[in-house]
Amino acid sequence: MAISCTCIIILTLVPLVFVDITTDAGTHKLSALDEEANAMLSISKELWSNQYNNVSNRCNWPGVNCNKAGSITLLSPPIPRNFTDEFSTQICLLKLNFSVFQNLVHLDLSEIGLCEFPKLSGLKKLQHLNLSYNTFEGELPFTLLENLTQLLVLDLSANRFFGSIPLIFGQMSSLTHMNLSNNLLIDKVPFTLTNLTHLLVLDLSNNYISGTIPQELSKLERLVMLDLSGNSFNGSIPLILGQMSSLTHMKLSNNLLVGEVPFTLPNLIQLLVLDLSQNKLSGFIPHEIGKLTNLLTFDLSSNFLSAPIPEQIGYLKRLTSLHLHSDLLSGFIPREIGKLTNLVTLNLSSNSLSGLIPEQIGYLTHLEVLTIGSNRIDGCIPKEIEHLLHLKVLDLSSNAISGVIPYSLFIHSSYIDLSNNRLSGSIPSQIGNVSYLDLRYNNLSIKNTKELESLIPFCYICCNRFLDNDEYYDWDDQLDDHHNKHFGRSLVLVIIVVCITISLGSVGIGICIFRARHHDKLENKATKNGDLFSIWNYDGQIAFEDIIEATENFDIRYCIGTGAYGSVYEARLPSGKTVALKKLHKTESENPSYYKSFCNEVEVLTEIRHRNIIRLYGYCLHNRCMFLVYEYLERGSLFCILADEMEAQELKWSKRVNIIKGTAYALAHMHHHCPSPIVHRDVSSNNVLLNSELEACVSDFGTARLLDPDSSNQTLLVGTYGYIAPELAYTMSVTTKCDVYSFGVVALETMMGHHPGEFMSIMSKPSTQQLLVKDVLDPRIPLPKSQKDMKDVVHVVKLALACLSSDPKSRPSMQDVANEFSVSKASMNSSFFDVSIYQLMH
Ligand SMILES: *[C@@H]1O[C@H](CO)[C@@H](O)[C@H](O)[C@H]1NC(C)=O
Ligand SMILES: *[C@@H]1O[C@H](CO)[C@@H](O)[C@H](O)[C@H]1NC(C)=O
Ligand SMILES: *[C@@H]1O[C@H](CO)[C@@H](O)[C@H](O)[C@H]1NC(C)=O
Ligand SMILES: *[C@@H]1O[C@H](CO)[C@@H](O)[C@H](O)[C@H]1NC(C)=O
Ligand SMILES: *[C@@H]1O[C@H](CO)[C@@H](O)[C@H](O)[C@H]1NC(C)=O
Ligand SMILES: *[C@@H]1O[C@H](CO)[C@@H](O)[C@H](O)[C@H]1NC(C)=O
Ligand SMILES: *[C@@H]1O[C@H](CO)[C@@H](O)[C@H](O)[C@H]1NC(C)=O
Ligand SMILES: *[C@@H]1O[C@H](CO)[C@@H](O)[C@H](O)[C@H]1NC(C)=O
Ligand SMILES: *[C@@H]1O[C@H](CO)[C@@H](O)[C@H](O)[C@H]1NC(C)=O
Ligand SMILES: *[C@@H]1O[C@H](CO)[C@@H](O)[C@H](O)[C@H]1NC(C)=O
Ligand SMILES: *[C@@H]1O[C@H](CO)[C@@H](O)[C@H](O)[C@H]1NC(C)=O
Repeated sequence: MAISCTCIIILTLVPLVFVDITTDAGTHKLSALDEEANAMLSISKELWSNQYNNVSNRCNWPGVNCNKAGSITLLSPPIPRNFTDEFSTQICLLKLNFSVFQNLVHLDLSEIGLCEFPKLSGLKKLQHLNLSYNTFEGELPFTLLENLTQLLVLDLSANRFFGSIPLIFGQMSSLTHMNLSNNLLIDKVPFTLTNLTHLLVLDLSNNYISGTIPQELSKLERLVMLDLSGNSFNGSIPLILGQMSSLTHMKLSNNLLVGEVPFTLPNLIQLLVLDLSQNKLSGFIPHEIGKLTNLLTFDLSSNFLSAPIPEQIGYLKRLTSLHLHSDLLSGFIPREIGKLTNLVTLNLSSNSLSGLIPEQIGYLTHLEVLTIGSNRIDGCIPKEIEHLLHLKVLDLSSNAISGVIPYSLFIHSSYIDLSNNRLSGSIPSQIGNVSYLDLRYNNLSIKNTKELESLIPFCYICCNRFLDNDEYYDWDDQLDDHHNKHFGRSLVLVIIVVCITISLGSVGIGICIFRARHHDKLENKATKNGDLFSIWNYDGQIAFEDIIEATENFDIRYCIGTGAYGSVYEARLPSGKTVALKKLHKTESENPSYYKSFCNEVEVLTEIRHRNIIRLYGYCLHNRCMFLVYEYLERGSLFCILADEMEAQELKWSKRVNIIKGTAYALAHMHHHCPSPIVHRDVSSNNVLLNSELEACVSDFGTARLLDPDSSNQTLLVGTYGYIAPELAYTMSVTTKCDVYSFGVVALETMMGHHPGEFMSIMSKPSTQQLLVKDVLDPRIPLPKSQKDMKDVVHVVKLALACLSSDPKSRPSMQDVANEFSVSKASMNSSFFDVSIYQLMH
């Protein structure tokens, strides 16, 4: 209340002040300085604190510089950095007109919550304009920048500008610094930008800019920093970029770039930072890389680079960070790595490197992070590792390393992961500063388990052959199994972390790109802002823009239904493929419980893959739009088909039996074949979808739950009325048997053609049991005629009745049900037309 009042007062006062002065002055025209004074008065309350109210003294205000004549040349209001909503609204209301400040050279209005673009046209002397970190929304305001011919520095980063970069930007020909990063810009880089030949810095990162990287960029000969990361650039890296000899920073990470690392890049001998990570680059690391002797950071991670690491890497003597993880690198770790004596971070995880850890590693005396996990390294941990006095993080997990652990590691490091190796020997009782220790799945003899667990906050030492008071652990049997579990769990963890990050309100601008899954290597590519996730499972690329375009920004016309939460849209991609999108409504995405469901669905569907379980192609987690991308199932839900007279008739007995069978297989898979059982909790005919062949796919995993064997799995009651197992109402304890019950309802519903609620309520009464099966079947299609159909239908009804048993213990497991479908059935002893419900229940 208070704030809106102040604003209204300000707005009405400002014109009054102007009027007063002009009338007082009579015919006397306002001097330019008086105009500046008036303008300062109108913005002082918002941009300076109350103590700065004497505009005569304005040249002495903080963030104000004047020339000798007293005209303002620099404005950089030191307003309190207060990001509450009220505050930004307040600044929003101002109609800022800076055109009066004709001598302004430097204007910095960054981070003050402006949402309306200030009027700047005609500020001929303006050289430095910083409007970053505001909340501008809309297209880039090119008319407002008109005639700013002297502009050298333009920083519009971290706003919400959308649309394409205007051609007219190519006319700010003096520009040396252009930062448009962290917006929502789309389309190609306009060719006119290559006219900005004075540019030193060009940062277009974290937008949705697409197309290939223009060859013409090479005309920007003075460019020192080029950052195109976090966009949708495709095609290969132009060879000609190797001519931009002034470059010190080249960042092209997190795009869709393919092809090889150009052999010309190493001509850029001034480079300090080269980041090509998170693309789809293939081929090998060029030997010429050894020419980049100034390089400090080298990142080729998360590509498809193969072949061994070239030994020329040893020439990069100034290197402090080397990231080659998540590629397909093979061969040995070159001994030359020992020449990189300035290295602080070395990450070679998730490749196919083999051989030994070279003893030369001991020369890297500044090393703080050494991660070589998930490779095929064998041999011992070289004792030279004890020279690494600054080593904080050591991850050698999931290799085949044997021998003993050098005790020195435990003195300095704080994070040690050596799990999944073949290490033997014992653990010292002095464990220094270790706060994370994972030694699981080794062959260690750990006598002081309890003590270690009490000293180390995160201590995982189970599953070794020799444990204090523990049984002999047969690790060979468990090893493979564990590898899989370990992987799944860390993935889930990553997703949870992302979800938490977002629910804590991170509002970065992300980029939503859906990428192909590479072999079995899951690629989880979060953007720098960490608010988006990408994808696997799909044999092509789905670009965010394609989805927006295909649904005309989620126009209602493309909506094909609503789920337990969110709406489902159909999107026909340019490739011709159709996908289904489940999009959270804006209000829902702000509601933690829907948000949780959304994340849950991602988490669960990431864990499972089955032909009768809907496939998740990807998802976008972004504060502006959250959606899941699924395979599209043409025929919609079983419920809808059964409700439609025409479609129900098409659903013959064999089809119905097949649907039940598919559903049973899906649930059996979830319950019994996943690392930990997954309970769907909302099995209903609404959540069984059918493809064009009328095959079933279980969907809607928003409420599914990974069963934790160590907890009682107490929970809130969720599910669809009419499908919830009766015991849930009073025990609140989730078991796989709850799904079995719901499955029973769906099976019966499919046979009867409608929800069996009425039947179920009287099912146990003796009178009902005299009912014949043929009399409860869906009357809209003829009774089964073939021997096979008769047998199958009776079989399904029998299984369904067993699943509906009120005692969870006497229900079959989904595995039993699935087995029943796989074995051939004995022929019936009685005629189909005489089979009664009673018979099937006993
Ligand atoms: C405003 O500042 C001027 C110049 O510094 C000074 O002379 C004047 O006394 C100030 N007025 C008030 C009301 O403080
Ligand atoms: C920020 O705004 C809030 C609410 O308007 C206010 O309570 C708080 O004091 C402000 N903080 C600063 C540093 O001005
Ligand atoms: C901004 O101020 C200048 C100079 O006072 C004036 O000429 C111009 O019309 C104003 N522009 C707007 C849009 O108010
Ligand atoms: C920009 O300059 C041109 C030519 O000098 C002039 O006609 C035009 O009015 C100016 N635009 C603005 C917004 O000042
Ligand atoms: C613009 O302002 C932001 C925030 O104050 C600052 O981080 C950034 O360096 C500035 N940009 C330029 C080009 O000075
Ligand atoms: C561009 O702006 C972003 C966000 O404000 C900032 O993080 C980045 O460092 C800037 N780029 C350059 C090259 O200064
Ligand atoms: C490029 O700059 C020149 C002057 O430096 C100008 O005449 C020309 O119109 C500009 N081209 C584009 C496409 O903006
Ligand atoms: C890059 O993507 C665009 C669509 O965004 C497509 O038309 C073009 O063919 C792609 N180019 C390459 C080289 O893949
Ligand atoms: C090293 O790479 C792995 C991926 O293989 C990643 O999970 C890990 O966070 C990276 N560690 C560091 C310190 O960069
Ligand atoms: C343990 O950590 C503390 C604080 O991080 C540090 O001061 C101390 O030197 C460390 N001890 C060893 C042996 O590295
Ligand atoms: C495990 O350690 C024991 C005792 O050190 C040793 O005898 C055995 O060969 C080791 N097993 C493997 C598979 O390395």
